[in-house]
Amino acid sequence: MQTEKQNLTTPKRILITGCSSGFGLLTAVGAANRGHDVIATMRNLNKSQPLQDALKAENVSARIEQLDVTDPDSIRQLVEKVGPVDILVNNAGILITGSFLDQTDEEMRRVFETNYFGIVNLTKAFTPGMIKRKSGRIINIASLAGLIGHPFNAAYAASKHALVGFTKSIRVELMPFGIDVISIEPGYHRTEIIGINANQSENFYNRRSPMFEWNRGFLRTMFDEIIPRAGTAQDAADLILRVMTLEAPKSHYLIGKDARFATMLQWLGLGGWLEKKMYREIRRARRLENKREAEKKARRKQKKIQSP
Ligand SMILES: NC(=O)c1ccc[n+]([C@@H]2O[C@H](COP(=O)([O-])OP(=O)(O)OC[C@H]3O[C@@H](n4cnc5c(N)ncnc54)[C@H](OP(=O)(O)O)[C@@H]3O)[C@@H](O)[C@H]2O)c1
Repeated sequence: MQTEKQNLTTPKRILITGCSSGFGLLTAVGAANRGHDVIATMRNLNKSQPLQDALKAENVSARIEQLDVTDPDSIRQLVEKVGPVDILVNNAGILITGSFLDQTDEEMRRVFETNYFGIVNLTKAFTPGMIKRKSGRIINIASLAGLIGHPFNAAYAASKHALVGFTKSIRVELMPFGIDVISIEPGYHRTEIIGINANQSENFYNRRSPMFEWNRGFLRTMFDEIIPRAGTAQDAADLILRVMTLEAPKSHYLIGKDARFATMLQWLGLGGWLEKKMYREIRRARRLENKREAEKKARRKQKKIQSP
């Protein structure tokens, strides 16, 4: 059995990325609450008010610093400013929805720059300090989409698969130095990534694309099936906080009913069944959206006929 130590007598220096909202914000507040020395980073300091309010509400404090994980200068300046840390939580991430056919090269690369290269570069910057002290912990927030396909989010899934591969590989490389590398794979949870931070590819509504109706179908599936069943951001933050203090953490953690269900099916060799289920749901939603649009058109036509 793993032993859990919420050890307040040995507070850790913890650096977390993407703390303007979601998991990052809640993890920063939770870690500060547990007595840790928290460096909460975000790419845009103008967005720090929600974090400041949440810290104030709990009567705790954290150091807030600017960090854009895609900007090497920003990473260098941060490392110079804050020095070594005990725990690095690579949390920042973005999602751009839309069929791979409609995503631009720039959009796909932007997803990789943030979700993969940003993490690689930040990890490279903070690992030498951990190696020197022969201890440290790196917690990478991957995704269920790093373990299975995520239709209409192919670049996101590919970037998270890359992140899972990176995490598994460097875990072994860093073993001689007493550094734990852990990946957390959440299913859907209600945060800004599916709220105000939700991005659609610029060609998402291109009616000339063979994927136009399917993009719309996927979005309808998100609203009807996925978001209502999503977990809470606090559930995920609680897991990240727990992993920070576990004496002997596992190599990876799943969180969310959808994540457990999907990986269990894969384990049983039923991945194909799951893919067909996803396809059927999106097809159904696409039909529904088409029907809705046809009804809207008919109503508009009727109004035109009736108006003098
Ligand atoms: N919520 C889910 O369902 C879910 C599921 C699986 C995995 N995840 C992963 O969990 C992590 C946290 O996401 P969340 O759900 O908490 O969403 P969120 O509320 O949108 O938070 C994402 C954070 O990442 C930041 N960010 C984006 N690009 C950045 C960059 N270049 N440099 C620094 N920060 C950047 C955002 O900052 P801005 O405010 O400036 O945009 C925001 O603070 C992500 O890696 C995401 O992929 C989430």
